[in-house]
Amino acid sequence: MSGETPPKRGWGHALLVAFEWSTLAILLLIGAGVYLFYAELRPMVIFGLRQDFARAIPVQKVPAGVPSLKSADCGKCHREIYEEWKTSYHAQAYTDPFFQAYWKKDGEVWICLNCHTPLANQQPELITEVPRDRVEKAVKAPNPDFDRALQQEGISCAGCHVRDGVILGPFDDSVAPHPTQLDPKFRTTEICYRCHQVPKGPFQFYNVGPCGTFPEYEGTYFAKERGMICQSCHMPEVERPMAEGGPIRRGRKHLWRGGHDPEQIKSALAVQLAADPPEPKPGARATFTLTLINAGAGHKLPTGDPDRYFTVAFRVVDRNGRVVKEQTDSMGRWILWQPVIVELYDNRLPPLASRDYRFSYRTPEPAEGLKLQVLVRYHILTDKAYETLKTQYGLQGDHPYNFTIYERELSLAGPLTADVIPLGRRPAGDGAAACEKKGSKPCIRCS
Ligand code: HEC
Ligand code: HEC
Ligand code: HEC
Ligand code: HEC
Ligand code: HEC
Repeated sequence: MSGETPPKRGWGHALLVAFEWSTLAILLLIGAGVYLFYAELRPMVIFGLRQDFARAIPVQKVPAGVPSLKSADCGKCHREIYEEWKTSYHAQAYTDPFFQAYWKKDGEVWICLNCHTPLANQQPELITEVPRDRVEKAVKAPNPDFDRALQQEGISCAGCHVRDGVILGPFDDSVAPHPTQLDPKFRTTEICYRCHQVPKGPFQFYNVGPCGTFPEYEGTYFAKERGMICQSCHMPEVERPMAEGGPIRRGRKHLWRGGHDPEQIKSALAVQLAADPPEPKPGARATFTLTLINAGAGHKLPTGDPDRYFTVAFRVVDRNGRVVKEQTDSMGRWILWQPVIVELYDNRLPPLASRDYRFSYRTPEPAEGLKLQVLVRYHILTDKAYETLKTQYGLQGDHPYNFTIYERELSLAGPLTADVIPLGRRPAGDGAAACEKKGSKPCIRCS
């Protein structure tokens, strides 16, 4: 009996052992794969590197004839430009509390500084080498030319204008106390490209890189048919002396308004509200359609930072302010960040595109006191992300991080037609007057 079983047991045992070993080997392989993927393949930041911004702009010397590289010193002669720049997010690209909080979240990794404080003079460490483009493997050395005050200036005058002891600009006939040189790229989009076209890295499945705007702009209506460049909308044209006491020239305001400025956002968006049937009655069902049009942005709406999004909300409120029915839709890009970056969907509006948002509601009888509120809001980031930055990454104070861009309230108790009309063509009321005064084409303020 015992003579028969051993060979059988031997087989089973051998199989079991082989199975155990192979399972172990597979697990080890998976482990090694995961380790290799995270340590060697997947970028540690949410974007890839590109030659131009992978390095800081080399240390710059103070050009002859100016006291220092500090923007305030340029401002002694270029006062208006300096005052404008000071109010811009370029001037705050380092001190910006949102940047500081996110930077902290990302372990204060050096690469961010190449766009947020682009001059090597503004960076405490010099990066001498980046083996295999692995950000975390960068070789660092202390920077003897580090200027802490200049670091605070973010994207300073010098960051765009000073190279090799010369001040570059859009003119060829300046008479200045400092050396000047014409650089044609000030009048093209090339000057913005380095920082506003952030590429995706390997194993990052974005449609467009995270803070990149160029692919949404190139070849579109504003670029192709109208020949508009980034400066056309972000640096309004102005005639004035470019330096105190100088001749009047055609230049541009250094404002760069964007997502932090509700007025700039309003200038991008045209909104229309319509009802079907046009005269809905209490007791009957009506469908309200809000149409959003990207009428004024030369790129997708919203663009840039992938946190940005719009919400469109319809809300029925009773006489006590209680919400009876609510519907909210959002417009933005939704990205799965972990374990790998995958863009799930992107329903942002390309230039001149429009989208309808519909809300259906049967008004009860009687409808006394019932109101329909329609709201379009812009969000710098989600409530949740804002809370996380506050509780975990040291975001101090309160910062406006969403804005109402459009707001209408209609009574559902009476006839609606007088209220529900395409924007900018309001027949009566002070809104209409404000609209005409502003003279803006797609007026979105008349609510
Ligand atoms: C002492 C006064 C003074 C200071 C300081 C000064 N500038 Fe100027 N700058 C001028 C004058 C004057 C002009 C020429 C005005 C003209 O011809 O219309 C000029 C011209 C320029 C131009 C146009 C160049 C071109 O040809 O296109 C730029 C850009 C510029 N300055 C930037 C700067 C920056 C950046 C700084 C600080 C690093 C600075 N300036 C500091 C007085 C000054
Ligand atoms: C983000 C890059 C950037 C920064 C930062 C910047 N400039 Fe400019 N600057 C430009 C561009 C682009 C133009 C060309 C505008 C045009 O087409 O006339 C320009 C033009 C100028 C001119 C020529 C006059 C004009 O309006 O065209 C002066 C002078 C000037 N800048 C000074 C400054 C000063 C002073 C600062 C800091 C307070 C500064 N710039 C910061 C990009 C920049
Ligand atoms: C050296 C890098 C750099 C260059 C060059 C640059 N930008 Fe920026 N820009 C940034 C960064 C970084 C921010 C975000 C700053 C922040 O909010 O912390 C920004 C923000 C902006 C914003 C949004 C402001 C807001 O309200 O949120 C606009 C608009 C803008 N830039 C336009 C331009 C245009 C137009 C040009 C070319 C003339 C340009 N930038 C050149 C780095 C740059
Ligand atoms: C036809 C006008 C127009 C042109 C051309 C244009 N923009 Fe804009 N841009 C806008 C408007 C309006 C907004 C505000 C709406 C928004 O934030 O999306 C805006 C917003 C932005 C923002 C802020 C995004 C945010 O919410 O933080 C950035 C960054 C920006 N633009 C960069 C650029 C760059 C770079 C170019 C050139 C490649 C460019 N824009 C060309 C009109 C324009
Ligand atoms: C290639 C240039 C580039 C690099 C590198 C870069 N940024 Fe930016 N960053 C930008 C530009 C351009 C904007 C403006 C986009 C916009 O306003 O939509 C921006 C905007 C931001 C904002 C939004 C600021 C606000 O006020 O809402 C944060 C936060 C930010 N960057 C953090 C970082 C961090 C953290 C890193 C490093 C991990 C980093 N950035 C690296 C170019 C860059």
